[in-house]
Amino acid sequence: MPSTAATARLTTSYQDHVNPQWVRLLNVLQMNVRYSHCLGSELFTEDGRRILDFLSGYCVHNAGHNHPEIVAALKEELDRSGPAMLQSHVPGIAGTLAGKLCSHAGGRLQKVFFCSSGSEGVEAAIKFARAHTGRTGLVYAEGAFHGLTCGALSLMGDPFWRDGFGPMLSGTEAVPFGDLLALEQRLAARTVAAFIVEPVQSEAGIRIPPPEYLRQARNLCRRYGTLFVLDEVQTGMYRTGPFLASQDSGADPDMVILAKALSGGLVPSAALLMTDPVYDSVYGSLKRAIVHTSTFSENALAMRAGLATLEVLDREHLGERAAAMGSYLRERLHATLSGYEMVRAVRGAGLLNGIEFAKPKSLKLRLPFEAFHQIHPGMFGQVVVMRLFRDKGFLTQICGNHFLVLKVAPPLMVEQRHVDEFVLAIRDVVELMHTSASFWTEALGMARRVMDI
Ligand SMILES: Cc1ncc(COP(=O)(O)O)c(C=O)c1O
Repeated sequence: MPSTAATARLTTSYQDHVNPQWVRLLNVLQMNVRYSHCLGSELFTEDGRRILDFLSGYCVHNAGHNHPEIVAALKEELDRSGPAMLQSHVPGIAGTLAGKLCSHAGGRLQKVFFCSSGSEGVEAAIKFARAHTGRTGLVYAEGAFHGLTCGALSLMGDPFWRDGFGPMLSGTEAVPFGDLLALEQRLAARTVAAFIVEPVQSEAGIRIPPPEYLRQARNLCRRYGTLFVLDEVQTGMYRTGPFLASQDSGADPDMVILAKALSGGLVPSAALLMTDPVYDSVYGSLKRAIVHTSTFSENALAMRAGLATLEVLDREHLGERAAAMGSYLRERLHATLSGYEMVRAVRGAGLLNGIEFAKPKSLKLRLPFEAFHQIHPGMFGQVVVMRLFRDKGFLTQICGNHFLVLKVAPPLMVEQRHVDEFVLAIRDVVELMHTSASFWTEALGMARRVMDI
C-alpha cells in the first residue's frame, strides 16, 4: 500500500496535470478520500473507513468491484501473451462475445461493432443510421444523456453540457420523452435517420416511460422509415432486471448501444448491436470492410472481460437479483420516506432507482431551500450526497440532468443488509433536513466555499 506521503504526491500531480477543479470540488464535498481497495459493493479507505457503493460508477459495477473471476480472466489473458491489437488478424474472441451479446439481446440483432465508450457507440449509431437510410435527421428525447463527444452531445439539449462547444451536428431535434404524438410529427417528414432513446432516462431523474411507449415508438419509426435505436448504456447488462431494460417491451430495436457494465468495470468497452440490414449498408462490400473502425475495438482484454462479466452476471443470476432487490429497496424506501414533505417520489426499475425531492411547502424549510437553489440548482442534492457519504458511509450522486433526484444504484450483488443500512441512512438524512437547523447552516458554509468554483 502506498504511504500517505506518496498518495499526497499523486493528488498533487493530478492537480497539476489533470483536473485541479475536480480535486477542489471533491474537497468541498468532503469526498476526497483515498481508497485502498474495493470489493463487491464495499470501498475501503486508507484511513480505515468502509464506504458502501450505491452509485456503481453510474452503472459500471453491475458485477461488483473487482469480481475475482473477471480479474482472473484478465490476468490469464495477459499471461498467455496472445495477439493484441495486431489490426491484421481475426480476433475470434470478439466473435464469441458478439454471439453471446446478440443471443442475450434477442430480436433481430445479429452483428456487433465494438468500441471503447458509450459515446463512441452513439457516434457509430449516428453514422450507421445515416448510411442505412440516406437521411441526416436525428431525433432524441428531452432530458436524454447520450455522451459528451460532439455527435452524442448533439443529442442532448441541456445547455450546461453544450455551452461553448458548438456548433453541434445540424438536423437534430428533441421531442418530449414519452410523447408519441410529438414523435410522429417529427418523423412524418421522412427525413429522420434515427430516433435514439433510453428505455429508462437515467440522468433525467430515473424517468420510466408509459408502458406502451417503446413498442409504439418503434412502430412509428417503422412506418416512416426511421431506425429505432436504444441507448442501453446505463440500463443494459441486467441493471433493471432483464438483460436489456427494453426486452419485455416488444421494442425490437434496429440498434442497441451497450457500454459501462459490459466489461466488469475493469476495461473500457462498448458495443453497438445491430440488424444484418444495418450492418450491410455500412460494411456491404470488400472495399468497405474497415470503413468504420477503431484502434481499440475488439481488443483482447476488453473481449475477455466482456465474456467473464457475462458469465458472472448469468451464473449469479444478477438480473433476477436486481429485480427482487430493487422491489425490496423501493418498498422499504416508500414505507420509510412517505411522510416527509420534501420527498416527492421513489421510483425505478431493478437496481436503477431515484429518490425525488421537492421544494418544501412550509416557510421554515422553504427559505433555506430557496437560498440554496439560488446559489446553485445542484446545491441541495450535493448536500444530501455529502451527508450520506461523510456521516453514513454511502457513495451516491444526484442525476446529471435533474438535480433533485438522488440516484440509488448499487452493484447488482448488493446484500439485503446493505440495502437495509441504506434505508436507515437516507431516513436519518431526510429527518435531519426536515428538523435540524444544522443541516442547512452547515450547508450554507459549504455554499460559501463553492461561490467561487
Ligand atoms: C445513457 C448513456 N448513454 C451514453 C453515455 C456515454 O457513455 P461514455 O461516458 O462511456 O462515453 C452515458 C454516460 O453516462 C449514458 O449514461
